Amino acid sequence: MKIAIILGILAVSGLVKATGDTTEQPTDAPTNDTTTSPETITPTPSDTTTSTPPKTTGTPPHTTSKPTTPATTPAPVLATNTYTIKKNGNETCLLVTMSASFSVNGKSVIVGKDAKADTTKSNCGKLFVNFGTANWFSLLFKTDNKSFFLDTVEANVNTVDANTTKQEIGKAALKASYRCTSGIDIKLNHNVTMHTTNVQFQPFQVVKGQYGTAETCAADMTKNVIIPIVVGCALGGLIIIIIIAYLIGRRRIKHRYESM
Ligand SMILES: *[C@@H]1O[C@H](CO)[C@@H](O)[C@H](O)[C@H]1NC(C)=O
Ligand SMILES: *[C@@H]1O[C@H](CO)[C@@H](O)[C@H](O)[C@H]1NC(C)=O
Ligand SMILES: *[C@@H]1O[C@H](CO)[C@@H](O)[C@H](O)[C@H]1NC(C)=O
Ligand SMILES: *[C@@H]1O[C@H](CO)[C@@H](O)[C@H](O)[C@H]1NC(C)=O
Ligand SMILES: *[C@@H]1O[C@H](CO)[C@@H](O)[C@H](O)[C@H]1NC(C)=O
Repeated sequence: MKIAIILGILAVSGLVKATGDTTEQPTDAPTNDTTTSPETITPTPSDTTTSTPPKTTGTPPHTTSKPTTPATTPAPVLATNTYTIKKNGNETCLLVTMSASFSVNGKSVIVGKDAKADTTKSNCGKLFVNFGTANWFSLLFKTDNKSFFLDTVEANVNTVDANTTKQEIGKAALKASYRCTSGIDIKLNHNVTMHTTNVQFQPFQVVKGQYGTAETCAADMTKNVIIPIVVGCALGGLIIIIIIAYLIGRRRIKHRYESM
């Protein structure tokens, strides 16, 4: 019985350790080319439309079937890009990873793999990215000496120029990074919204070209914390049951011993 309890405790501690690790992060090996896109995340088609078989009997469709002309240019695929800005030639001082798309007056414009940081227009607190044919966006970070945050986003997408300023998005301590895998939606003026997912950024101070400890957004926290808590509670309950069973069992043995 004691062995069972010990095994139970070991199982709990092992499981909680395995699942409760939230600060781990995918750090890319530091490269010295200015823009690298190590991983592309292709959007998963979650809603596979189940094609209902046409059960209606009778008249075949008389509609003049015009072959719908396919779009001439292939739509870019959403990509998770990492943008790296350096100072003094070889010292990384701004890292931004994200996949992004823009809604412009209801139309979606995707930032694909072709997106490139414009190093002449960027600095340790500002990322300027060109994408598509003539689109660009920029992220301006600010610091209060202790923390950094995203203050201004500007974009020129499909010739619509939009921006938002005086924000305080993604606040985290200097030398740490801010991460929000769930993503952030940023509303700009002129009916433009920037949608981002798989976000991680670290401006001003980057050690050895790699992201520091990630401070995660609330949306990620709930996702990463709920499962370990549920598992922990379940196993905790199991242990209590084992202990109670043990105590009852011991009392029974004692009773039997006394009655003999
Ligand atoms: C990139 O870094 C390697 C060493 O890490 C160095 O040998 C190479 O010259 C660098 N290339 C550029 C373009 O800076
Ligand atoms: C950058 O390169 C210079 C000369 O190549 C070197 O002295 C310096 O230590 C390097 N800095 C970093 C951060 O690697
Ligand atoms: C901290 O920020 C203030 C302005 O907000 C600035 O005057 C001061 O020099 C900064 N201190 C350091 C150590 O950078
Ligand atoms: C942001 O947009 C407004 C309205 O178009 C404009 O007046 C302002 O200059 C823009 N700010 C920046 C930083 O581009
Ligand atoms: C934003 O979009 C709405 C409808 O989609 C339209 O009525 C409105 O005029 C647009 N505003 C601007 C500034 O384009």
